[in-house]
Amino acid sequence: MSNNKFLKDTDLNEFKLKLNDLNDKLTRSGKKLVIAKSKFSKREVDKEFVIKYSEEYKQAKANYLEACKDSKFIDNFNNAKSQLKNAKKSDDNYQDLYNQYKYSKALFKGYKIAVKERGFGGELYALNNVALKLDDIKFKYREDHPYAVNGVSVEIEHGNYVAIIGHNGSGKSTLSKIIIGVLEPTKGNIEVYGNKVTKSNINIVRKFLGIVFQNPDNQFIGSTVRDDIAFGLENRRIEPSKMSDIIINAAKKVNMQDFLDHEPLMLSGGQKQRVAIASALALSPNILIFDEATSMLDPKGKNEVKQIMIELKNTREKTIFSITHDMDEILNADKVMVMNKGQLVKFGTPKEILSDKDFLRSINLDIPFVAQVEEALQNLGLKISGSENLDELVDKICQI
Ligand SMILES: Nc1ncnc2c1ncn2[C@@H]1O[C@H](COP(=O)(O)OP(=O)(O)OP(=O)(O)O)[C@@H](O)[C@H]1O
Ligand SMILES: [Mg+2]
Repeated sequence: MSNNKFLKDTDLNEFKLKLNDLNDKLTRSGKKLVIAKSKFSKREVDKEFVIKYSEEYKQAKANYLEACKDSKFIDNFNNAKSQLKNAKKSDDNYQDLYNQYKYSKALFKGYKIAVKERGFGGELYALNNVALKLDDIKFKYREDHPYAVNGVSVEIEHGNYVAIIGHNGSGKSTLSKIIIGVLEPTKGNIEVYGNKVTKSNINIVRKFLGIVFQNPDNQFIGSTVRDDIAFGLENRRIEPSKMSDIIINAAKKVNMQDFLDHEPLMLSGGQKQRVAIASALALSPNILIFDEATSMLDPKGKNEVKQIMIELKNTREKTIFSITHDMDEILNADKVMVMNKGQLVKFGTPKEILSDKDFLRSINLDIPFVAQVEEALQNLGLKISGSENLDELVDKICQI
């Protein structure tokens, strides 16, 4: 083994992901076997049925144990050790060999911990710039129900701000729950930054994702704002020494740094939602979903949260999905997804979407206020269109 053939952190990461996957399959087949045995005891199935699941379980166990026995980390360590042993302190590369020895030793230790923790802690990386790729996603809540999401395909590049609109019951929330992995699609594939989402990697994929829901009161766990933001970090086993800075930075992003020791329930609706956003941001998700995050707030709270969403958009560090009934909000978006009866019926820029107002009305959607005024002016013979906000519209009117 030459120097450049030594293992790296990425090898350990791959090992963890593999072990995590096989452990997941093992747990799953174990559960299936228990169910099969219970059915057998109630005479609902025959012995063959149990044997089939028993074989599957044995195979999953063998695969898992085989993967645990991976000898490459010890071989790598032994190799580094022998190279160091054969070198003299006066050799030019002695320090490099010593560093390699220490590194290989740490990797071997990492391997042992990974086996003990059954592959916990493997990381997925962004493999491309496509934040989310949905391929023919279908979902129904029950077998005898119609599809709540019915064949949605879309590709969203990193850094986009996407508004999702649609009448009540059109499948927006269901789709967001599928994206964050709370619901498993009945059919179709999902890729997050090029990583195909599977049953066994969904927990790892979730690290890319954060969500802020509608009701600010349902999102609190901690007794202070600080505890609340810390909760998700503890779940992710973030080192305690790093937590304080992460919490303060997240609170600053939503302008709540002066409220860290306050009780969440004593805050205003807008402040609560800002804390919910901070809790999500603390986990550094690449994709942030807002499911009607402003709909239960008073006008002041709405504006506070909308302002934060625009600030987040302007950094272009995150891909943002905003599910909204507030049609004025779509003007801020880069792309708009229009849902109707579980289907993605239109996808385009706000201008493209608003160019067909009759279509929007036909699926019971309002038109943004600015677009309504433009339409009224157009009916009076004035050529005004495409204003992104009220100020722009006023400017255009003044120029006539
Ligand atoms: N837990 C559930 N069990 C059964 N059916 C459900 C469940 N949640 C939603 N549905 C149904 O799935 C369909 C899509 O609902 P979903 O909540 O995704 O729509 P939505 O676009 O988010 O609506 P809204 O604008 O009202 O929030 C609807 O027909 C709804 O009745
Ligand atoms: Mg909804």
